[in-house]
Amino acid sequence: MQKTAEAYSKLMILSLIFFIGCVSEQSEEKKGLKDFSSFPIGGAVEIRQVLQDTALEAIIFENFTSITATSDMKMYAIAPEEGNYKWDRADSLVAFSQRNDLRLFGHTLVWHSGTPRWVFQKGTEDSLWLGDFLKTYIQDYVGRYKGKVAAWDVVNEGFDTQGGEYRKTLWYNKLGKEYIANAFRYAHEADPEADLFYNDFNLERDTAKLNGVLKMIEELKADDVPITGLGVQMHLRMDIPDSLIRESVRKMAATGLKIHFSELDIIFNTHDDTRGGGEQLYSSVTPKMLEQQAQKYEMVAKIYREEVPVSQQFGITFWDFTDRDTWINPFFDLKDWPTIYDEKLEPKPAYFGFRKGLSE
Ligand code: XIL
Repeated sequence: MQKTAEAYSKLMILSLIFFIGCVSEQSEEKKGLKDFSSFPIGGAVEIRQVLQDTALEAIIFENFTSITATSDMKMYAIAPEEGNYKWDRADSLVAFSQRNDLRLFGHTLVWHSGTPRWVFQKGTEDSLWLGDFLKTYIQDYVGRYKGKVAAWDVVNEGFDTQGGEYRKTLWYNKLGKEYIANAFRYAHEADPEADLFYNDFNLERDTAKLNGVLKMIEELKADDVPITGLGVQMHLRMDIPDSLIRESVRKMAATGLKIHFSELDIIFNTHDDTRGGGEQLYSSVTPKMLEQQAQKYEMVAKIYREEVPVSQQFGITFWDFTDRDTWINPFFDLKDWPTIYDEKLEPKPAYFGFRKGLSE
């Protein structure tokens, strides 16, 4: 009888140990990217979609500490017509970020592609008006969300697609390169606590473009313009050499600014940045390709950790994080697999590669 009781209690203890083991393994599995990272990890979202898609929401809560709006906070969304701001989506993003304790990144105040047609038309005719509008728009917008939007891409893509010259946009043509310094000043006046970024693409691969941007940053700093961050979009392609990326990131970090990998994704195919449209090199994705992509994601996280000093690590943001929703396919008319989750919202090897790069 005693023997049976002993055996029974042994069994109970063993079951308990097994149970505790399972639970801790489960919670281990439940850990997301944010739990492996010492700096913020973010994702780009469209608020109406997130509010309707619990699977997407679950991915966000599991992995991210920061969110950026893909398009809800661009000028054409906020000022779609003269005399009327449309705040509903930005308000909704702010509420979502606060409810869920996520950092909200503001993308973007001034961008040639984000400029609504009416601003383009009016601004083309009247430079004085355009200068006033820039000021009022930024102050109204940044002021409204003071303390709620942690940081802004103040100017996006102010340099030519290739090479090191300023992009000849409406803003540049009518206001001169001073539009950039002014935009930073207006934003800083409206929210002195917010981090203010200049953001652009291909800086990791186009040395002439990077040098042009670095020169601008030097000039802005010399003029006491309140710039605190540099965003590099990081729309990567599998064949961009790691050594070139590393070297470029090192130069970015040498500015002393906070560095944001602001729109990370990695394509297999290629696209022509100057023309738009893509070239379909691969019609399907193989396990080997996915493994290579995982290694690239791992390397990106490692380069960030190794080249950006801790005090400058603003974070890494994925630009869409599922192959189902990626902007690449519709935008470049391609079929690609650039993100960390697949079309069924399962984590890809890329997810685990990136996670490894965050912590090893
Ligand atoms: C893209 C969005 O993801 C698309 O949904 C939209 O149609 C066009 O803009 N660089 C940027 C982002 O700074 O704002 C762009 O976002 C992608 C390239």
